[in-house]
Amino acid sequence: MRILITAGPTREPIDPVRFIGNRSSGKMGYALAEASIEAGHEVILISGPVALTPPEKAEIIQVETALQMFEAVRDSINECDVAIFAAAVGDYRVESFSDSKMKKTGRTVTLTLVENPDILGSARGGFGFAGYLVGFAAETENVETNASEKLARKGCDLLIANDVSRKEIGFDSEQNEVTVFLKDRSPHSFPQESKKEVAKKLIDLIERSASV
Ligand code: CTP
Repeated sequence: MRILITAGPTREPIDPVRFIGNRSSGKMGYALAEASIEAGHEVILISGPVALTPPEKAEIIQVETALQMFEAVRDSINECDVAIFAAAVGDYRVESFSDSKMKKTGRTVTLTLVENPDILGSARGGFGFAGYLVGFAAETENVETNASEKLARKGCDLLIANDVSRKEIGFDSEQNEVTVFLKDRSPHSFPQESKKEVAKKLIDLIERSASV
């Protein structure tokens, strides 16, 4: 199969030296790319800025902002059989980027933020993607209710939820513990393991579910 994977954080620039980012390390997305390649699939990895080396055989598209990630996904998703959205996309960007470095004024500064497009949420209606769609849900509370709602709202076949409020499995950790939600089936939890092991199991599940 040809698998598109988004990974890492996005950066939303404020001025030439500052940005709004998030705590995503990209480890889960890169582990999924590695596991996909090891299982014999082709991978397009659309990645925000991370300190990781991408798997050699992946086609890598480096982006910085949510809007750039949106365009990169739009332009390649329909070449793929499966799309996995592991990136932590910034929900907001700064309304007006300052071309020069903002100087201290001695006063309170207010930044106006505008919403970024929902890339996963655009896959079906916006991009017309008809393949197997996999989303992630980073939750800090009511994991099950929020994940089931997200699965339906974003048109996913599979949603992978994790509780990012738990330090040992949250952002930038080596391990993960996920619960998967499939349409019309009861949720299934995987044990806490390295992101590499979790990725292998997820790719195996996606292979089985996508080819039904
Ligand atoms: N996602 C996306 N584009 C966005 C926001 C999120 O593609 N602008 C994707 C993520 O990659 C993930 C899924 O949507 O696969 C859910 O992300 P999450 O941050 O949990 O959900 P949000 O849609 O941002 O909803 P909320 O923050 O309200 O929980």
